[in-house]
Amino acid sequence: MSDTVPIEHPTWLTSGDFTEADDPLRLFSAWMEQAGRSEPADPNAMALATIDAEGLPNVRMVLLKGLDPRGFVFYTNTHSQKGVELNVQPRAALLFHWKSLTRQVRVRGPVETVTDAEADAYFATRPRLAQIGAWASDQSSPLESRLAFEKAIALCTAKYALGKVPRPPHWSGYRVLPLIMEFWHDRPFRLHDRVEFRRESLDGAWRKTRLYP
Ligand SMILES: Cc1cc2nc3c(=O)[nH]c(=O)nc-3n(C[C@H](O)[C@H](O)[C@H](O)COP(=O)(O)O)c2cc1C
Repeated sequence: MSDTVPIEHPTWLTSGDFTEADDPLRLFSAWMEQAGRSEPADPNAMALATIDAEGLPNVRMVLLKGLDPRGFVFYTNTHSQKGVELNVQPRAALLFHWKSLTRQVRVRGPVETVTDAEADAYFATRPRLAQIGAWASDQSSPLESRLAFEKAIALCTAKYALGKVPRPPHWSGYRVLPLIMEFWHDRPFRLHDRVEFRRESLDGAWRKTRLYP
């Protein structure tokens, strides 16, 4: 992951006593770090829920590519279904589930687009074929056949044969700015630990509440 905040974690942040934590982003970062060591694949995978123009919820997996004190960043095609939905209703929910740790984290809040400089910097780190794919894939639009996609990839590969592949204008990142975060950890006999953090505004203080499982 890029932009991960380097944070020293007291042991209680990662132990069973996580309910002592006061800063949900630090706690999240500690759990993410642990998941990085224990999950067999994609510890940074998260479900992203959005709302369509009719108010119908939509959900799909994306990868967390940046975490900083402001929030959670992922990258995508801004013309995709999620992009269109977020442009109309810039609010989202995220869900992380780490089976190896029997933990889940929920995040809800408004969404902003990352700066061009941030998106350019991340795009530049992607493998060349993934950069070409960002040009060739009209994400979420109907595709006539796999062959049509392969032709589009071949055309883009020829077009950008020399030099750097520029970032497509319709490819960028979104940052989910947390107002509500909930941490859940499995305990025996379904007597799980749940702690919710809430704040009224993005610069407000976090309030912590323990919830019945
Ligand atoms: C583990 C996993 C990670 C994914 N990561 C991303 C991602 O970071 N960005 C993205 O655009 N799609 C990602 N996808 C594909 C999306 O789930 C989805 O199929 C695609 O973005 C189109 O979604 P939409 O039509 O709702 O816009 C991922 C899929 C999986 C299973």
